[in-house]
This record gives sequence, C-alpha cells and structure tokens, in this order.
Amino acid sequence: MDLQNFGMTATANRLDPDEIWNIQMTSAAHQEKRGEIGVITIDSPPVNALGINVRRGLDSAFRALRDDPAVKAIVLICAGRTFFAGADISEFGKEPQAPLLGDVFALIENLGKPVIAAIHCTALGGGCELALVCNYRVAVPSARIGLPEVKLGLLPGAGGTQRLPRLIGPELALDLILFGRSIDAAEALRLGVIDKVVSEGALLDEAIAFAAEMVAQGKPLTRVRDREDQIAQSRDHPEIFAAARARAAKTARGFLAPENIIKAVEAAVSLPFDEGMQRERELFVELRDSTQSAAQRYYFFAERKAGKVPGLPTAPADLKIERVGVIGAGTMGGGISMNFLSAGIPVTLLEMSQEALDRGIGVIRRNYENSARRGRISDVEVERCMDLITPSLDMGDLGEVDVVIEAVFERMDVKQDIFAKLDKIAKPHAILATNTSFLNVDEIAAATSRPESVLGLHFFSPANVMRLLEVVRAARTSESVLAASMALSSRIGKVAVVSGVCDGFIANRIMTPRREQAEAVILEGTTPQDVDKALYDFGFTMGPFATMDLVGLDVIDRSEPYRTVKADLLKAGRRGQKSGAGYYDYDESRRPSPSELVAKIIAEVAAERGIVQHPPLNQEELVCRLLYPVVNEGARILQEGIAQRASDIDVACILGYGWPVYTGGPMFWADSIGLAQIVTGLRAMAERFGSQFEPAELLVRKSEAGDRLTD
Ligand code: 3HC
Repeated sequence: MDLQNFGMTATANRLDPDEIWNIQMTSAAHQEKRGEIGVITIDSPPVNALGINVRRGLDSAFRALRDDPAVKAIVLICAGRTFFAGADISEFGKEPQAPLLGDVFALIENLGKPVIAAIHCTALGGGCELALVCNYRVAVPSARIGLPEVKLGLLPGAGGTQRLPRLIGPELALDLILFGRSIDAAEALRLGVIDKVVSEGALLDEAIAFAAEMVAQGKPLTRVRDREDQIAQSRDHPEIFAAARARAAKTARGFLAPENIIKAVEAAVSLPFDEGMQRERELFVELRDSTQSAAQRYYFFAERKAGKVPGLPTAPADLKIERVGVIGAGTMGGGISMNFLSAGIPVTLLEMSQEALDRGIGVIRRNYENSARRGRISDVEVERCMDLITPSLDMGDLGEVDVVIEAVFERMDVKQDIFAKLDKIAKPHAILATNTSFLNVDEIAAATSRPESVLGLHFFSPANVMRLLEVVRAARTSESVLAASMALSSRIGKVAVVSGVCDGFIANRIMTPRREQAEAVILEGTTPQDVDKALYDFGFTMGPFATMDLVGLDVIDRSEPYRTVKADLLKAGRRGQKSGAGYYDYDESRRPSPSELVAKIIAEVAAERGIVQHPPLNQEELVCRLLYPVVNEGARILQEGIAQRASDIDVACILGYGWPVYTGGPMFWADSIGLAQIVTGLRAMAERFGSQFEPAELLVRKSEAGDRLTD
C-alpha cells in the first residue's frame, strides 16, 4: 500500500486507525502504535536523505498520527545505517516537489503532541534540522550531530541557523555551522542539543519510554523556536560576529558560504523567529543558486564516484589483506606505512641499512607523538601503531605479506631489480605495487613473471595526510588485483582515483602545463610574484614559485637542455626557504619579498634564449595562460582513456594539488565558463606560441556539440 494513499485514507475517510496500524508500508515511512506512543520509522536507503519520498512519507504519517486521539506522543526513528543524512543533495537544482521540507517541518513543529527524535549514527544537515523541530531529542552514544552544509557551499536552509543558536547560543552555533563540525552524543547532551543519551542497541525502546514519561509529566510542549534565553544574552555583542568573520577569512578564503552563514546567525539574534527564517531562506537561495555550491555539490558526488570501476568484480577472498610490506623507510615509505598502521594493519618495513631503518621508524614515532600532543590520538594508540611495525633488513621477510609497496627513489633499473627479486619471494597472490610518480608501471611489471599482480599505488606527500591515492592500472593488472587495491584504499581512508599508465598519471600530468606556463611567462616579462598572486587569488593556497621555494629547488628533479632560471638560482645557492632564498628572498620569519637578483637572472636567461618581452600579464590573462592548458591536458587524459571520467580528474586535482574545490576542479570549471571560450583561448595561444596549445579533439568536439566535459 502506498503510504500517501494510506495517509489520505486514514485522514480523509476517517477509518479506524487501529485497522491500519502495523501495516508494512511500501514507501519510505512505516508507522505503528506502541500503547499510547506512535512510532514513525523512515527507511530510505542508503542514508535516509530527505528526498521527495521521505517528505511524502513523513507528511502522511504525521498527519495520520496527529489525527488519532489514542496517540499521545510520537517517536521519529530511522531504519538502516543512519538517522536522516540531510536534504537529498541530488534534488538541488531541480524543480522542487511538494511537500517541501519547510511544510513538513511546520507540520511536525505545530503538531500539538510531543515528538521525540530518536537518533543513531548521524543526524546531519536537514536531518539535524528535523531533529531540532521535534520537541525532544534522544541519541545513542555513538551518534553524531552536525550541520555540514558549508562543505556543500550552502547554509542550513531549514531553520538550522535560527534554531541552533536558540539552543546553544550564537557563538557555539557559529563554531559548528561555519566549520561543519559534528559533535558526539555526549557533547550534544552537555551543550543542550539533545535531552538524553540512551543505551546503544535500545534506541527505540528507550525513546518510547522517554516519550511515555513526557506524556505522564504532562508539561506544556516546548519548541526550540520559542526559546529566547540563549540569544537574548548575545544581543548587543557584535564582537561575536566580528570574531567569526576574522576566523572565516583566515580558514575559508574565497568561499561565499561563511559570510551568509554569519549573516543568518546574526538574523537569529536580531530578528523575531519568522523574520529570521525568511532571512535564512534568502541567504540560502543565494548560495544554492551560486556556481560555488553547484561545484561543491558536484564534488561531493565526484569523490564518491571515484572509487567505483564499472564492471569490476568484488575483491576475491584469496586477496585478503592482513599484512603489508613497504620497501623504503624514507619520507614516502614512512608516510605510506602510517596509513596502514593507523588502520590497524601490520607493516613489515624494509630498508637497506640499520641506520636508515632506525631513522625512518624514529620519524614515524615522532609523527604519532606529535598527533598525541595535539590531542588527536591517545598515547595508547601511539604505542599500538608502533607495535604493528616489523622492521627488517631482509627482503625475504616480504614473503609473509599480502601487499608490497615499493617506495625507493625513481630509477627504472633500481625498481626493476626490486620487482624481479620480489617475484621470487612474494606469496603467489600477493599484490606488488610501486609508488612511482612517473615511471612506466608496465615496464616495472615486465621485470616479473606475474605482471597481473603488479600495479601502481601512487601516494601524495605527506602520504599519511593527503587523501588522494592514484591506483595505476597497468596493461596487464588483473581485475581482482585492482578490486582488492580499491578496497584496501578505502580501508585506509583514501580517495582512490584509477589512472592508466602515462607520464605523471593524472594529477602530475595535468598540472605540468601550469608549471611550464608559469616558467614561460616570467621569461616574457611577468614577475614570479604576479604569477603566484594570480593563482592565489584564483583560490590555490600558493602559487608555483612559492611552492617550489617551500619544497626546495634542489629536491625538484628536473634538468632541461637549455639555461633555466631554476638552474641559475641553484648555482647561486638559492635552494628555497630552507636557504633563506629561492625565487623570493626570505627574512628570519620566512616572510617572502621579491628579489632584485632573481629579476636580474630572469632577464639574463630571457636575453640568452632570445625570448621576446611583453607587458606583464594581468590576473585574468594569467589564469587563461596557466589554466586553459591544464583543461586541455585533462581533455587529452580523458580522450586517451587514462582517466575513467572527467570528475576523477577533478578529484585528483582538488585532493592532490589543492585546486580550489569551489570551482569544482579544472573540468567542472571549464564547463562553468564554457568550453567554447576555452577552445578560443587555446587557439589564440596556439597561434602565438605553437602547436602545443592546439585544443584537444575531445574539447573541440564537446564544445561544438554544446556538451560539457563533466556530463
Ligand atoms: N543526499 C543524497 N545522497 C546522499 C546524501 C544526501 N544528503 N548523503 C549521502 N548520500 C549518498 C552518497 O552519494 C552515497 O551514494 P552512492 O552509494 O551511490 O555512492 C551513499 O549515500 C552513501 O554515502 P557515503 O558513501 O558518503 O556513506 P558513508 O557511510 O561513508 O557516510 C554520511 C554517510 C556520513 C551520511 C555521508 O554520506 C554524508 O556526510 N552525507 C552528506 C551529509 C550532508 O552534507 N548533509 C547535508 C545535506 S544539505 C542539507 O541538508 C540542506 C538543508 O539544510 C536544507
């Protein structure tokens, strides 16, 4: 039976509700009666998002229970893995369908009977807001509650900015909403967001008992919207909002949502509830219709899609991963090892000398101890992770492991030698992975008699922090090895992006043109600081020259057959921040300033190479010159089948290179400014600077057809 029909029948035709209680619904809502307490269960996998079916289910079920005089209070609970995870993000941008969230919330808030939200797992976004329109909230200890809309470029648009400050005050509410921070049940209880923590595994029974207690007490119904105490004391305290603005300016540069969130919370404090709701709506709609939020919502789904490989079988049982071997205890090998240790997976760590091994293990310990000092993990956890390391100087020890990850320096002969040895030692089903960032994985696999077991697992530095993992599928990598590697990657909390074999794989390859163009324009008359500023203003944390100075010019392993600025800087002892000078001069606090010597070197190199000088490029010209070629490279990566989909390229750039998420990544960005404009820009550059700028065939085809790269 359709729930909406059920609701309609029960109310319109006044059937005896007892006849129809306990009927299993085919829609998202199920209702039953436990004595005087009505229970509404929403079951809409995977995460009970508040899409149209759930809204209809809630609307019908609440109307039916409201109209049943035998029901004295209502418990709202969700089946499956979580309480409501928020509005259905895939509905944004589509024609809204009634009943709207606001209508359903108004129905619940004005029901006239106590409504108790029973929360497990997560109450997020609209799910948290729904809990706030209920009269009471109970939760199991493992539950988490939060308003993460800011991560989607939005603000809580169903009353969250008005009700949460009324419960916990604007300062704390801003702290949660501005940073999308969720809190556990204990903190929620302490702050007054929930009324009771109930036993794990007994949520429904204890929520019903709580509801019965409220009925027995017969106290007048309280609604969050009517609370004044927390906001009254914050009126005439503009410093609360000034502090929030200062924090947001530092941590969320370039994002639009934080300012609207602050304005909405200001409205909660200064306006009556209904006017505050109206203001929240205006500010929400402004964000919802912005390109930034469209980009961030696109990114939300892109990240989840990245781990999926169409047609790939699930990992077979004989590829169960219980122990990992890492070759090389340097910066990369140590960081890679930490991923597994933190996930409770033992690691055999191999080095050539005791000294290198001790040094590597010492760094891992220091990293964990620093995390403990910052309160991120406990001292017990530090020791638990360290106990999972088996140090080794004997390659034979890798015969015990299920996956080997080689992380030695980038030389094909060295890697091939290691893989030939591994071939003889490793278990028959072991996965043999290389962390190479640009060498040909097919050639490495060819050094073994089992190329189907070989693939690339390309971590980004610092490997224990960066979430991106490029899983490089070589020509003969088997499907089961790929599937097991994808599963392993989500076990260690990485976002896996599958890449084919090519120079630089996805992230390094696509971003190479940005560096090349940056190096080219400084020889044509634009300064390094102008280039860095243009990209900083675009939303990158740093421009390419500041980044090279930070990493160290001597570390960047690249030699060119002609005179370069970088080589001259190195000759002058300018190795970057660590030597006090690189592309910039640095003071004792490592504050950069432009360098006359660098300007002189640039002029000399340009003169020697006969490069024609132009007036400096402005911000807009620099963005085109540096980033259109990135889009072009992305299109080539796509047309060659190196990436599975355009959104994978965006995920790789955002997570691997800090491309600003509010533009959606280079592919989404290109779509949002229009492919025709990119093609025209590239053709103009090709005419001036050569055929390397010719737009990729895919780009031209999509542009002419009026298509998008990210469709
Ligand atoms: N809308 C639509 N789909 C959603 C969704 C949502 N709010 N939340 C999750 N999903 C989908 C995911 O896309 C994924 O789909 P897939 O299986 O097809 O890939 C599936 O649900 C499972 O999600 P995860 O892979 O993320 O599952 P996890 O168990 O790792 O995480 C979660 C669960 C913590 C609930 C996580 O999904 C999450 O953080 N969801 C988003 C929460 C959120 O941002 N809510 C606010 C929405 S905006 C809003 O409410 C506006 C309101 O103020 C008006």
